[in-house]
Amino acid sequence: MNIFEELKNKCNMEQVEQFLTEKGNQTEEALRRYLEQLQCPDTGLIEAMGYSLFAGGKRLRPALVLGSAELFGGDIQKVIPSACAIEMIHTYSLIHDDLPALDNDDFRRGKPTLHKVYGEAVALLAGDGLLTLAFELLASTGNAEVVVEVAHSAGVNGMVGGQYLDIQSEGKVVPINILQEIHRKKTGALICASLRCGALLSNASPEGLNAITEYGNHLGLAFQIVDDILNVTGDEKTLGKPVGSDTEHKKSTYPALLGLEQTQKLALEQTHKAISALECFGEKAEVFRQLAMYMLLRNH
Ligand code: FPP
Ligand code: MG
Repeated sequence: MNIFEELKNKCNMEQVEQFLTEKGNQTEEALRRYLEQLQCPDTGLIEAMGYSLFAGGKRLRPALVLGSAELFGGDIQKVIPSACAIEMIHTYSLIHDDLPALDNDDFRRGKPTLHKVYGEAVALLAGDGLLTLAFELLASTGNAEVVVEVAHSAGVNGMVGGQYLDIQSEGKVVPINILQEIHRKKTGALICASLRCGALLSNASPEGLNAITEYGNHLGLAFQIVDDILNVTGDEKTLGKPVGSDTEHKKSTYPALLGLEQTQKLALEQTHKAISALECFGEKAEVFRQLAMYMLLRNH
């Protein structure tokens, strides 16, 4: 039995799916409310924002915010605005990432990308609209630490900076430490910030915050490594976006640098490290252990 088969036996898929569905539904309901509340005569713009916001994302990041709050005994209603804000930032990043100036992708989550339907100008503005609304929601928490946390993870020192490095490294063979930096910033930072926001808004102890940060760092890295693997081995239909695009764009990825087998080992190693970080939480963190395995085994 190979190591992935073994993991499949250990992973309680149902528990994770139930967790993601429950948190996804809570997020979805609130997201609809926030869009409805936008008193804006330009309904076309809001429609475009909704097109991507409700296009069938996994809602992983808001689930991490809500799950982390639960782990630290926090109040779900208190963290819902941050969960939605982070999903808005994630959605904006995908809209802009798909634009012709960046990855030039026509499909995402099995649907035409936003600019294919509404045009590039509207896609840019819909992304901007989501990003600014996100910070309005974050500010509404009254917790400056949370606003700074998300700004930091989404900005030049996080997602935006990582995306820039990613573009700069196209067509080059970058050393593994730079590749890791790109992954950490581009994807890992927002995933980790999601967990930290849930913790910060639930009065987590410094030790608890450190442990969840460690989990988030490893989970985030594993997540992007799996994303790269799926871009090679994935099924276009299940994935809802083109496979092989990284090779086509001469992107620096782990599979390109190390080969598939080594890359899978690395993803597994990061998953184990993520799980180890949860030790101090005992049984309470079981769903996060399961989630780390589930994310490694995912096919979309
Ligand atoms: C898929 O997430 C997305 C990633 C793995 C992140 C990639 C990073 C970028 C595209 C950064 C772009 C940044 C800018 C500023 C343009 P997912 O599998 O959770 O997606 P889902 O919501 O469709 O499930
Ligand atoms: Mg892309």
